[in-house]
Amino acid sequence: MALHRLSSITIGVPNVEDTCRYYAEFGLSRNGAIFSTHDGGEQLRIIESSTRRLIELCIGADDPDDVARVSDRLSTLGVAVERDATSVSALEIHSGARVVVKVLAPLTQEPAAIEPTNGPGYTQRRNGRAPAILRQEPIRPRKLGHVVIGTPDAEASQRFFLEGIGFKISDQVRGLASFMRCSTDHHNLLLQPAPVAFLHHTSWQVDDVDEVGRGAMTMLEGHAERHVWGLGRHFIGSNFFWYLRDPAGNFSEYYSDMDSITDDQLWIPGMWEPSLRALYAWGPDVPPSMLEPDDLADLMAASHQG
Ligand SMILES: [Fe+2]
Repeated sequence: MALHRLSSITIGVPNVEDTCRYYAEFGLSRNGAIFSTHDGGEQLRIIESSTRRLIELCIGADDPDDVARVSDRLSTLGVAVERDATSVSALEIHSGARVVVKVLAPLTQEPAAIEPTNGPGYTQRRNGRAPAILRQEPIRPRKLGHVVIGTPDAEASQRFFLEGIGFKISDQVRGLASFMRCSTDHHNLLLQPAPVAFLHHTSWQVDDVDEVGRGAMTMLEGHAERHVWGLGRHFIGSNFFWYLRDPAGNFSEYYSDMDSITDDQLWIPGMWEPSLRALYAWGPDVPPSMLEPDDLADLMAASHQG
């Protein structure tokens, strides 16, 4: 695959320091307003912006030829690009996000320990408690997994990412969402039609479902208002999820066990009808804020002023 990873994002929020404190608590390592994951290095930058939104998305490519191809395809679409020998960047005008593709080393991850489990007819763990209940170390997300944005022209934004940047479609929900990948993860980017551009959520990989639960419960201690939706399992992408709200109104998700597409020929993208099933296999009822942000009116008012 010419593109191989979602490398980093920059998000804009009106309340930088509050939001920075939240992501440090979420388990990212803080250096000023730059945050690192355990495996992915520096993957999040938070800057000031009048409304919450995705400012920049950086994607890793294998070599300069890949970058040249992205640049050519964007030019064919009539998109202005900035180039140097190892990178190209362009503004996706509908979402307002700048997208950078640059030559980067692939991400390598140490496999998580596979812990013994018990079930009907098999007993891998004998005479001992589950290691998962004994974990005490703070949650440290392994990497940035995906970002979800609302865009007022989903069709044009999709063309930019698919035909210009080179993302691939993994699944779609008719009229609602396109799940796209630039790596072997089921999705690294999801576009949603919305009346105004905004950042819906960012998603961060943890080792397993116990870390999803442990991470969310830690974030909710003394902060019940952070809860959005979880624990559940998505149907599209298969991952376990728990969504929390940051102080700017963006959601941040802990996830584990997402589908992986290592051979494009063997994955059949689905076109799913809009239904609750397309959203999740099981979990609590979907809160209205997952479908439409609580601050939509404010976001729209701000966009009209801008
Ligand atoms: Fe997600």
